[in-house]
Amino acid sequence: MHKRFRSLIGFIFFSVILFSLLTLQSCAKKSEEVADKEEDKKSQTISFEMPEACRGCHPIIFSQWQASLHPVAFIDPLYWAEAELAGKEAGEKVRNFCHSCHAAAATMLETIPADATKASPLAKSGVPCDLCHTITKVKKIGNKDIEVETESGTKRGPYKDSYSPYHLTEYSEIHTKAEFCAACHNVYHPTNGLPIENPYGEWKESPYAKQGIVCQDCHMTPGPQVTKPNPGQVAVGGPTREHYYTHSTIGGNIFITKLLGNETGYQIAAERLRSAAKIEILDLKKNDNQMTLKVKIENIGAGHYLPTGLTVMRQMWVKVQVTDSRGQIVYLSGELDKKGNLPDDTRIFNTVYADKNGNPTEKVWEATKILKDKRIPPKGYVVEEFNFSIPTGSKGPFKVYVGLLYRSAPQHIVDKLLKDKPKVPVIEMTTLTRTF
Ligand code: HEC
Ligand code: HEC
Ligand code: HEC
Ligand code: HEC
Ligand code: HEC
Repeated sequence: MHKRFRSLIGFIFFSVILFSLLTLQSCAKKSEEVADKEEDKKSQTISFEMPEACRGCHPIIFSQWQASLHPVAFIDPLYWAEAELAGKEAGEKVRNFCHSCHAAAATMLETIPADATKASPLAKSGVPCDLCHTITKVKKIGNKDIEVETESGTKRGPYKDSYSPYHLTEYSEIHTKAEFCAACHNVYHPTNGLPIENPYGEWKESPYAKQGIVCQDCHMTPGPQVTKPNPGQVAVGGPTREHYYTHSTIGGNIFITKLLGNETGYQIAAERLRSAAKIEILDLKKNDNQMTLKVKIENIGAGHYLPTGLTVMRQMWVKVQVTDSRGQIVYLSGELDKKGNLPDDTRIFNTVYADKNGNPTEKVWEATKILKDKRIPPKGYVVEEFNFSIPTGSKGPFKVYVGLLYRSAPQHIVDKLLKDKPKVPVIEMTTLTRTF
């Protein structure tokens, strides 16, 4: 009985193969017409599992991923509003370009509807587990030029000796390299090629690249900077590993983490920001009522420029406050006004782009060239000098406060993009005070 059943299966299998071969032959003539549909055909063979399918066996990694920004890449309200604006001003093609990274898996299968609330659950999962773990190749740095293979169900990762009862596993060197992250983290303007985000290029030129310290070593470890080893179990029933990488990939986003109630993510971001820089007073002197203050700002913890990523939006600046013996403020720089905006003369580290008429623009799709790029290179520093006069009558000792402050976005952009106009939090990355 059993044997007969097997031969029946064999017969059916043989017939299917024969039929396919015949069909293939008759289709050969049509191959030219089909050729340009190759892309469509390819996407039909791709399918992704939802992150929930991984949760049961990888509970720790799942909760780390949940605390990162990858699962909210698409539903991130700031992103959503900005992508909608890009669509309105620059067209659907540009908006689809935006979605290609922020809904990284879904866009390989489907077009995201104009009304993003109607997008599929896969789109809403942003950058899901299965997209990253089915990548076989990063074809080019930036703009998500990748290849995935999902048909075999193989999950690719850093282990050469891993066994899972649920899926095939395969060692993948690319997953251990900075180029893996660079696939999405380097963003180039889709038509003029201008770099919009370039953490990889900045890292590649840095001492970290020469020492072999990659993105994963700082962003996929429990603390800021290199905190290895991190022993533990990566799967229920799996072995205890001497080291595994965490998935709470967070940079400095203290805004969206807070807004979405992601307290763990907020704490990681705050800790990262507090570990990134050091300030030092190089010179502080007073001649009559003229005061000079020289401050050195050093990037001690980031493997790329400070800040990096979407530097058209991120703001890092120096605040200086000098008070006299009565506590009266005699000098103030880098203080937010009542509306939450920074004065024009603030010593700020960011990137300013110009539109086609040469005017500054905050909309990256309008960018044609870089007007200003003032940031701090990895393991490098910048010196800022402040010269000001003390009002007559003010007496010392004077108290000097210097702070390096950071926020994820300017308040006026958030006020324009988000209906509720949430207040953008500001964090002190590092501070010092001096009395003289
Ligand atoms: C039935 C349990 C189970 C499910 C469900 C499961 N895994 Fe696994 N997975 C394991 C086990 C066990 C290992 C081996 C762990 C080890 O070797 O330390 C593993 C290993 C891995 C590895 C490491 C592969 C390597 O060679 O480096 C990756 C990546 C991975 N899983 C991804 C996923 C993803 C993505 C999903 C969801 C689509 C998923 N897993 C669902 C049990 C599971
Ligand atoms: C943004 C891409 C990305 C996403 C999203 C992602 N991973 Fe990973 N994962 C990686 C990389 C890269 C490594 C390897 C790091 C290394 O070894 O340098 C890794 C490693 C792993 C490993 C091996 C153990 C370890 O942590 O080192 C497992 C298991 C795993 N991932 C499962 C998952 C699961 C389950 C999810 C979703 C809950 C997930 N990953 C989401 C990129 C990703
Ligand atoms: C498939 C595309 C993709 C890949 C691959 C990818 N990322 Fe991301 N990543 C994103 C997107 C999109 C966001 C923005 C999320 C948002 O809009 O809130 C993001 C956000 C982040 C952030 C948060 C930044 C902040 O402001 O706090 C960090 C850190 C990060 N990724 C690190 C990594 C690292 C490290 C790797 C490689 C192991 C990696 N990513 C691989 C797409 C990707
Ligand atoms: C030596 C440790 C280190 C390495 C290596 C490193 N980073 Fe970072 N990264 C940091 C720290 C610290 C911050 C927080 C300060 C900041 O926001 O710039 C950060 C922030 C970020 C941010 C958020 C920036 C922002 O302000 O929005 C992104 C995105 C990011 N890193 C991506 C990467 C990528 C991609 C790589 C690899 C090419 C990488 N990082 C390598 C330490 C590192
Ligand atoms: C090649 C991949 C890629 C493309 C394409 C892309 N982004 Fe992003 N985007 C990212 C990554 C990675 C980050 C995280 C960088 C950081 O945190 O500094 C990000 C961050 C953002 C953020 C900040 C989110 C926050 O919470 O602070 C906004 C807004 C945004 N992108 C809008 C857009 C728009 C609009 C487009 C299309 C014009 C676009 N992106 C296209 C990868 C991409």
